[in-house]
Amino acid sequence: MSYNILILGSGGRESAIAAKLSQSPLAANIFIAPGNGGTCLYGTNLPQVKPTDFATVDLAVKEHNINLIIPGSEDSLVAGIKDHFADNKDILVLGPSKEGAQLEGSKKFAKAFMSRHNIPTARYQSFNASTVEEGCKFLETLNPPYVLKADGLAAGKGVLIIDSLEEAKDSLRQMLGGMFGAASDNVVIEEYLSGIECSVFVLTDGNGGYRILPVAKDYKRIGEGDKGPNTGGMGAVSPVAFADEEFMKKVEDRIIRPTVNGLRAENIQYCGFIFLGLMRTIHGDPYVIEYNVRMGDPETEVVMLRIADDLLPAAVAAASGDLAEVPLRTDPRAATTVMMVAGGYPGSYKKGDQITIAESVLAMESCVLYHAGTKRDAEGVVVTAGGRVIAASAMAPTVSEALAMSYKMVDGVSFDGKYFRRDIGQDLLNWGK
Ligand code: AMP
Ligand code: GLY
Repeated sequence: MSYNILILGSGGRESAIAAKLSQSPLAANIFIAPGNGGTCLYGTNLPQVKPTDFATVDLAVKEHNINLIIPGSEDSLVAGIKDHFADNKDILVLGPSKEGAQLEGSKKFAKAFMSRHNIPTARYQSFNASTVEEGCKFLETLNPPYVLKADGLAAGKGVLIIDSLEEAKDSLRQMLGGMFGAASDNVVIEEYLSGIECSVFVLTDGNGGYRILPVAKDYKRIGEGDKGPNTGGMGAVSPVAFADEEFMKKVEDRIIRPTVNGLRAENIQYCGFIFLGLMRTIHGDPYVIEYNVRMGDPETEVVMLRIADDLLPAAVAAASGDLAEVPLRTDPRAATTVMMVAGGYPGSYKKGDQITIAESVLAMESCVLYHAGTKRDAEGVVVTAGGRVIAASAMAPTVSEALAMSYKMVDGVSFDGKYFRRDIGQDLLNWGK
């Protein structure tokens, strides 16, 4: 059987998924919708498709005889793309049902799910406009800093971490008063956890079968030393020194298995990727900070490099409900990615600047530039088209060697206002030493 694959999205993550699947002998045709200035290297872009507008997805599916859909981001999953194709047995969708996507779409849903299945996470309560005063009382029972989370999707901005109790109460009132629109109609208040974060990815078939993918760490803040505002992600490394065998056994026993089994026990249809945003406490215990129902970006730009086997049979098996026979081994080498962003990002930034890439960069072995916010103009010239522009990913025996290659690639890419962090992975190089 061969596959006509439709990947939904336009970022570095979708570039990395398309690149990986393009190596599969079972991939007949790959389409990326809408795609970017680099995804056309691995397949055909479908710029007219909007992932959350299922009428446009339907047209593409029909025209190109698609039999496997891989949503890159959560938006189409939360909007119910899995349910939309549920009656069509010829089309596999690698992702959860609308109900399953609530693990990311609603913090309240995710916290209640974890609480039902004894999955370790910060102590919490949720509140709405009619329970503001109870919310303020709950804040008084916690120690600072205070963590307030808009229940719904808020473009990655819905989490506030606040030092003062009075400010936290004010913010709670503002959130419940519509600060994030309907996304903050409910607000989860939770205990602050200290520790170090990592991203664990699982591919599950919805019937209890799963594979753990390579663990990664991303670097979310714009500035070096993790300073300044949050971004979509400035770089990533894998493996993660502190996510050792002992820690990962705890993650599997306390979090992954209870999650996969809990979904099944509650009859929530969930195949596809589960992204666990974890905190490792100083005692070495894992806690869930958040679930996402998709791969991470830029983590995917390192995770795909470290998947040693063909991803397509695993994707098909997971989407068909039985992963049992499919290998999905991890390459022992390290992978790193450094994101180049447009000047001004995550605030306002320019678009349309020409990107030049040195020939020497394209010739580097075990290296790949994954396009994110890029497009080709009318003459086919690659120009900037987003905040996060292009990710320099490399593979080598160690994290420090891979980083050296990623940074060498960065030197060979130029566009007006290019910015990147020089400290990606540095905190992990001396871990435990
Ligand atoms: P989330 O959108 O839930 O991932 O939250 C965004 C970021 O806020 C996380 O990546 C953490 O760095 C931080 N965060 C969220 N919840 C907590 C918590 N309970 N304790 C400490 N930090 C948190
Ligand atoms: N890198 C974090 C995310 O994709 O949400």
